Amino acid sequence: MTELRVEHVSKRFGGLQALQDVSLQTEGEILGLIGPNGAGKTTLFNIISGFLPPTSGTITYDGRALHKQHPHQIVRLGIARTFQIIKPFGDLSVLENVLSGIGMPVYPSARALFQRYRTSATLKQAHAILAQTDLQDWAQAPAANLPIGLQRRLEIARALATRPHLLLLDEPAAGLTTHEAEDLALLIRSLHAQGIDIIVIEHNMSFAMNLCERIVVLAQGQIIANDTPAVIQQDERVINAYLGQEEADVAHS
Ligand SMILES: Nc1ncnc2c1ncn2[C@@H]1O[C@H](COP(=O)(O)OP(=O)(O)OP(=O)(O)O)[C@@H](O)[C@H]1O
Ligand SMILES: [Mg+2]
Repeated sequence: MTELRVEHVSKRFGGLQALQDVSLQTEGEILGLIGPNGAGKTTLFNIISGFLPPTSGTITYDGRALHKQHPHQIVRLGIARTFQIIKPFGDLSVLENVLSGIGMPVYPSARALFQRYRTSATLKQAHAILAQTDLQDWAQAPAANLPIGLQRRLEIARALATRPHLLLLDEPAAGLTTHEAEDLALLIRSLHAQGIDIIVIEHNMSFAMNLCERIVVLAQGQIIANDTPAVIQQDERVINAYLGQEEADVAHS
């Protein structure tokens, strides 16, 4: 099994300790990553996917060190991610966005790729991914015209186009209706059944609890729990971390 190992990773932004001695590993499951706002979840994804270097610690995938590689090199190793703030190429069509994903492991620049990668083989691949993610009716639409729920799906489609073995999803259900979130959970399960390991950051507790086989909880940059949803739900530190968040939310509102 191809494993991701995060070992003793810390990240400091000036005076802010965003991550503190974080260690975890994937075991071929749908792994949830939850925690209050600012806990360091996205920072951890940014480090795994090569967008940020860790201040200290190591990350390996299938035994290879990731923490000194660039994002496109990490994509080549089979790790793809989506972004919390969705980043489709808005002026390109949905199809072209997926084509750009197919070329990402090949070309460092997506724009160079989508023009040169429009072969019959890549078009076939792209249409298969659009069908899998239920976006086929939107193939020719400019990505910016898609409603938010479908833009989130397009993020996943583009990541899938890089043919990952490990998919990192940063709040894929944010802004989705209950029905759209249920469809998304089905899609994530079917990707996992096809052999793609998943780490999913999620704020919606019931979504994460239903979908994930194991959940890692981050609070203020540290892992405070790493267990099954059933155990996590009863964990006092987790409950306190979230209650603290809710109280802060009430104070701000
Ligand atoms: N590039 C950066 N430079 C400076 N500080 C940053 C940077 N990225 C994140 N931070 C800070 O690090 C902390 C962790 O942020 P991060 O985005 O990882 O949290 P998160 O758990 O993803 O939160 P959310 O649930 O709101 O998305 C926050 O205090 C954030 O302001
Ligand atoms: Mg985040």
